[in-house]
Amino acid sequence: MCPMADQMTRPLEGRHILLGITGSIAAYKAAMLCRLLVREGAEVQVVMTALAKEFITPLTMATLSRRPILVEFFDPENGAWNSHVKLGEWADLMLIAPVTANTLAKMTGGVADNLLLTSYLSARCPVMVAPAMDLDMYAHYTTQRNLAELQAHGVKIVEPGSGELASGLEGKGRMAEPEEIVEAVKAHFAADKKKALAGNHFVVTAGATIEPIDPVRYITNHSTGKMGYAIAEALAAHGARVTLVSGRTALAVPPGVDRVDVLTAEEMYQAAVEAFAEADGAVMCAAVADYTPREVAAEKIKKQGEGDMTLTLRRTQDIAARLGTAKGARVLVGFALETCDEQAHAEEKLAKKNFDFIVLNSLRDAGAGFRGDTNKVTLIDAAGSEELPLLSKREVAERIVEKIESIIIK
Ligand code: CTP
Repeated sequence: MCPMADQMTRPLEGRHILLGITGSIAAYKAAMLCRLLVREGAEVQVVMTALAKEFITPLTMATLSRRPILVEFFDPENGAWNSHVKLGEWADLMLIAPVTANTLAKMTGGVADNLLLTSYLSARCPVMVAPAMDLDMYAHYTTQRNLAELQAHGVKIVEPGSGELASGLEGKGRMAEPEEIVEAVKAHFAADKKKALAGNHFVVTAGATIEPIDPVRYITNHSTGKMGYAIAEALAAHGARVTLVSGRTALAVPPGVDRVDVLTAEEMYQAAVEAFAEADGAVMCAAVADYTPREVAAEKIKKQGEGDMTLTLRRTQDIAARLGTAKGARVLVGFALETCDEQAHAEEKLAKKNFDFIVLNSLRDAGAGFRGDTNKVTLIDAAGSEELPLLSKREVAERIVEKIESIIIK
């Protein structure tokens, strides 16, 4: 392409943006936002809530987006169905600007009482929101909790600004300016272009396994799956096809990831080995039980007098070690969670399981390990180790995926 033509290419050319507008006074800014998105080359489909129509007219939005806007599940005139599933499939990005405290709460709660929300629930694409509300509503713990929860599930937040609000009060809650939102959209798609792992298939194991003792009890551990899910999401964001073999967790499937649900170490072994057969690499993030009850009682075990009880456990299969023997030139990444002699234990596992590199977590580091949204890790390979600072699990995942990329793309 000649340099002139390159310059003339608009950054959002051909991108499908589903622009959701909810009932806030900031809805008037959605007109400018829509115009800027179209000017940058995006195709914009507007979906509004009924209340949003009170703040900005459908006619304005339809004119600027060059498409009829959508509000209802079906057209009351002719009964034509507005398929939220199709909208969700069509969109490359769902941008809700402005998003009210009410819609944020409904999004976290899975409420589906308007077309905007059903489209959100059906969307397979990334979602971005630009909150707009009064300062106290924005600061309220429920709003902050909802935003944190959405963010943890991959929703991107364009932070509101501070200043004079419609209520006359001063503070944080004013929707970001349309220009800032467009910059965030452009940055999102620019990052999206870094699909260096396109054409590669990765298996990620995540979460804890559950080993039944009887129909009521089981053995498990504290793993939440957050780190593994963040890795699956980062791999998918870099263009890889991802099979996430997951123990039981409350987490949502990250966009673009195929999840295989398992319970026991044996089920995880079978699923991971099968998926790895046609994969280009694997990240072993699951906390797999090393032992499982030799016998699973068919009926609930009743207590016997006052004495102790003994449960006989047998070893489970080591999934990582099995993939390590089969890996050939493929990439295999392991995890080590240690409480003492961390480096030595991790190096031993690196060699024993034939990992390309191992991610060491020390439970002695504050902010590392289970449950939290941060982690502090050291990446260790045959050449040495790199200690990363305390980062969010998403950032740790990004660094791990970048290291995988550096191995694959030499
Ligand atoms: N792993 C696995 N299958 C198992 C056990 C562990 O795939 N049955 C993987 C984990 O996902 C992790 C790495 O192996 O990537 C951890 O190594 P391991 O030595 O098994 O750790 P621990 O189970 O914590 O072992 P130890 O009790 O010896 O510390």
